[in-house]
Amino acid sequence: MSWIKPNTITGSVAEGDKYFRRDEIESRIWDEILNHNHVLFLASRRVGKTSIVKYMSDNPPGSWYCKYENIQSDRSVQDFYKRLCRMTNESVSLQGKLEKLVATILSKYKIVSLGPDGIGLEHQEVNYRDLFFEILKHLKKEKQKVVLFLDEFPDVIHNIYNDHGAIQAEQLLSDMRTFRQSSDFKDVFVMVLLGSVGLNHIVIKISGRTDKVNDLHKEYLSALSLEQALNFLEHLLNGATMVVDNETRIYLLNKIGHFIPYYIQLLIEDCDQELRAFKRKELNSADIDAIYKLLIAKNEHFVDWENRLSRYFPDKYEYLMAVLSTCAGQKQIELKELYNIAIGKKIKNDWKAIIDDVLVADGYLYEENGNYAFNSPLLRDWWKARFPLF
Ligand SMILES: Nc1ncnc2c1ncn2[C@@H]1O[C@H](COP(=O)(O)OP(=O)(O)O)[C@@H](O)[C@H]1O
Ligand SMILES: [Mg+2]
Repeated sequence: MSWIKPNTITGSVAEGDKYFRRDEIESRIWDEILNHNHVLFLASRRVGKTSIVKYMSDNPPGSWYCKYENIQSDRSVQDFYKRLCRMTNESVSLQGKLEKLVATILSKYKIVSLGPDGIGLEHQEVNYRDLFFEILKHLKKEKQKVVLFLDEFPDVIHNIYNDHGAIQAEQLLSDMRTFRQSSDFKDVFVMVLLGSVGLNHIVIKISGRTDKVNDLHKEYLSALSLEQALNFLEHLLNGATMVVDNETRIYLLNKIGHFIPYYIQLLIEDCDQELRAFKRKELNSADIDAIYKLLIAKNEHFVDWENRLSRYFPDKYEYLMAVLSTCAGQKQIELKELYNIAIGKKIKNDWKAIIDDVLVADGYLYEENGNYAFNSPLLRDWWKARFPLF
């Protein structure tokens, strides 16, 4: 029997027919762009940001030219502006526009090419910030509108801070703010900055304040509603050999609890493999229970959640880990318990703010009436298995 797999994709970005439309957030972001507002689009890793903006970048409304890139590898202010120059140039020249104009500017700077593998240079001391503003002036003159989607932007600020110190990182943030607030290029150029870690944490670490990023228009990506999650299941299962009746679909979603597409994809993919191995078409709730258990024993899907704490918050790591492990073990944690853990870890005044700014803001926990609990039961169960407390 030929077995048709569900339309799943796990790990890489969901594109083409793998992409399940997220109309609400797409149009919220477009509304900001069309109003010429720069956007900060935040959500934890693997919640679906990149899939959304790649779709947006490939399907812009009429008069905008778009370009998406993951910019995580940039490690200096020069790297960053060099990239903006190249992306802006590519976004317009891909459409056959402005090629000659940009070529003229480049020749003035004695740049032979602006390829992705480096820039062909005759003149070594190009200031890419200046070059970028020249390119913008041409966009304005030609009335060409460009949107750049810059993925993992907070990481670049973190990289610059690590490699070149707080002053350079702050300067870039100030420079970008000044630029956002000036009316010069407002109608021709918009940036959508994506982040998997809250930009505020990094900015506070660098300068102690968040005033340099407060003017960005923030968009958060939430989980799917039950109705959307059911539509998403249909998107995955339509045409597949595996059959899941409505009751079982609800059972599966309840098991996951927090409807992030990635978790639904993982479970469906593993269920499909299991049924295929046994040449059985109909999925039942006992299968789901068994496969859920196997899923939380696999680390690769969840380990990012722990890694990012040690990477971005080494000085708070022990406190954060103790709170999460206690919360996973007990299913929830009260304010008083947080306070006691904080005292034990020698954390003073900001014991609650740390939890709110890191664990709540980054999607680990939610708070209700002074109790904190995991958003995702799946993540909670993995956490409990991986970091048990006695
Ligand atoms: N709109 C979507 N349609 C289908 N799958 C999705 C969608 N959004 C997220 N996913 C699932 O989540 C995974 C991570 O998505 P991605 O866009 O890379 O998230 P992020 O950029 O937030 O880390 C994808 O590999 C896919 O399994
Ligand atoms: Mg991403």
